[in-house]
Amino acid sequence: MCGIFAYTGNNGKNAGEVLLDGLSSLEYRGYDSAGIYLPESGIVKSTGAVSQLRRKLPAGYFGKSGIAHIRWATHGEPTEINAHPHKDCSGNIWLAHNGIVENYKELREKLTELGHTFLSATDTEVLAHLIEEHLKVEKDFERAALAALREVKGTYGLAIAYALEPEKVIAARMGSPVVLGLGENERFIASDASPILKHTSQVVFLEDGEIAVITPTKHDIFKLDGGRIERKAEKIDWNVEAAQRGGYQHFMLKEIMEGPEVVENTLRGRLLEKEGLAKLGGLEGVADEIKKAERMIIVGCGTAYYAGLTGEYMLEEHAGIPVEVELGSEFRYRHPVLNPKTMLLAVSQSGETLDTLEAIREGKRRGALTLSIVNTVGSTIARETDAGVYNHAGPEIGVASTKALVSQLTALSLLTIFLGRQRRMSIETGQEIARELQAIPDKIRSILERRTEIERLAKKYAKARDFLYIGRKYNYSIAFEGALKLKEISYIHAEGCGAGEMKHGPLAMIDEHFPTMAIATSDSVYEKVASNIQEIKARKGPVIALATEGNHEIAKAADDVIYVPKTIEMLSPILNVVPLQLFAYYFAKEKGYNVDRPRNLAKSVTVE
Ligand code: AGP
Ligand code: GLU
Repeated sequence: MCGIFAYTGNNGKNAGEVLLDGLSSLEYRGYDSAGIYLPESGIVKSTGAVSQLRRKLPAGYFGKSGIAHIRWATHGEPTEINAHPHKDCSGNIWLAHNGIVENYKELREKLTELGHTFLSATDTEVLAHLIEEHLKVEKDFERAALAALREVKGTYGLAIAYALEPEKVIAARMGSPVVLGLGENERFIASDASPILKHTSQVVFLEDGEIAVITPTKHDIFKLDGGRIERKAEKIDWNVEAAQRGGYQHFMLKEIMEGPEVVENTLRGRLLEKEGLAKLGGLEGVADEIKKAERMIIVGCGTAYYAGLTGEYMLEEHAGIPVEVELGSEFRYRHPVLNPKTMLLAVSQSGETLDTLEAIREGKRRGALTLSIVNTVGSTIARETDAGVYNHAGPEIGVASTKALVSQLTALSLLTIFLGRQRRMSIETGQEIARELQAIPDKIRSILERRTEIERLAKKYAKARDFLYIGRKYNYSIAFEGALKLKEISYIHAEGCGAGEMKHGPLAMIDEHFPTMAIATSDSVYEKVASNIQEIKARKGPVIALATEGNHEIAKAADDVIYVPKTIEMLSPILNVVPLQLFAYYFAKEKGYNVDRPRNLAKSVTVE
């Protein structure tokens, strides 16, 4: 997710300095490029961090107002030309955008036919030309912006500048956060409060579908349909760090809470429910090779590996294609038998994990078709694979991967529809999966609303030194992922285990001091997991069961129950992993550990 920041003031401050300084506090939102536009001094852009942008500013770069942006690309490589702010043909309209313009292709075609010339490969640029087109009719900057935004589908947090009215800046919010800062003879627009706080603690949070027009001494808020809104300012007493975490105590909790919108963003523009199809633009170019492929190997590390394990069940059941899942660190030392009819799919949040990257390189050497599901646009794995799907999950700061996994499972569900409908999946099944996928965000919201219940359980079990996580079939991988979450941030011994495997050894560990998290949601293997719970209870092992709402039977067997909403079996991992993420978070927090930066670990492992 990008960061936008805009300023207008008449108190002698240099907008250039205010904006650059503010961008630095937005860098946590991810940066691959940055840019700044002052009506009085023009545009400067650079790749890399804010420090590189600062080095490019000409001497005397000054202005009383302007807009700035720190980019985390979704559409268009992270290059200088794709950096924001973007302009229209006239060069009078400039804007910085956080979000995804879902209908940018149609808009770009329409505007090109109308004679507009595009410079970048981004989705964002269409917005500047669309406002320009409406300005020809409306003859008024604000009305033109309102009219243009009514044509836009997708998400945006926007700051829009107009060279002919330099002290005015327009903000707009739809799906991406926007906050106004109200200072003495100065006003601010930002993606979050962090760059505003050093100037003022008086803020106004815009809601979706709202536009704001700011000048140094005024701010007016309107609905997209034009109606004016009165909104009281709030005083926030956050420090910059707290503002970056959106008020949450840790990035990990913030990112777990972002799960619903992450699923929405991963699905955005990619589901054709009526046709029961998935539209994955990044794979269109190799759709025929994918259709002819006879098997798939999924490669990843850590959480990404467990995402791949889940994808194996999805793809084999619904696409009828043989799938193996390999650890990046192992695959590259084997002598895998590959050929052009083999798809080698890398799953990686960072797109830089060396073990996964080297596995891809090995696959290329052996003639496989290499694909990727990656969160970081322009990353090495994204660039070195033949084709891929971007997660659009926004940057993940916490070392323990949470929202990225939720997005990976969503992307694998889309891939399952994509491959399945090329093969044996019926349109009805495609429609059912598409329908259920669209219901997932609200189902995750209902789990998140009850997080205090999970916090209570985490405190109850926080003294445990060992934890077993068990699951079957689609939730076999989630048992391992749940155990990984707990061990990597609370440092206790936690291990995943196929529920059916317990009797082959792990059951020997169980006693009253060794609790088990049993994933026992209502699906085709529920009865088997229920009997595994009985096996554990017979050895006095404490059990927390993850169960489907309405299943009261399980409460007679387990010591504690965490309920989740019903969904189709294939999508149950997306819901079931969320309480396990929360449980690990609250467990580690109770132990007083650094949840965002656990010891011995790094966010992206770019070494072997
Ligand atoms: C997961 O919580 C860990 N941070 C780690 O296992 C991570 O998933 C693994 O290093 C893979 O990273 P990637 O997704 O960036 O490739
Ligand atoms: N979609 C825009 C781009 O790719 C904004 C990206 C973002 O919000 O992260 O430039």
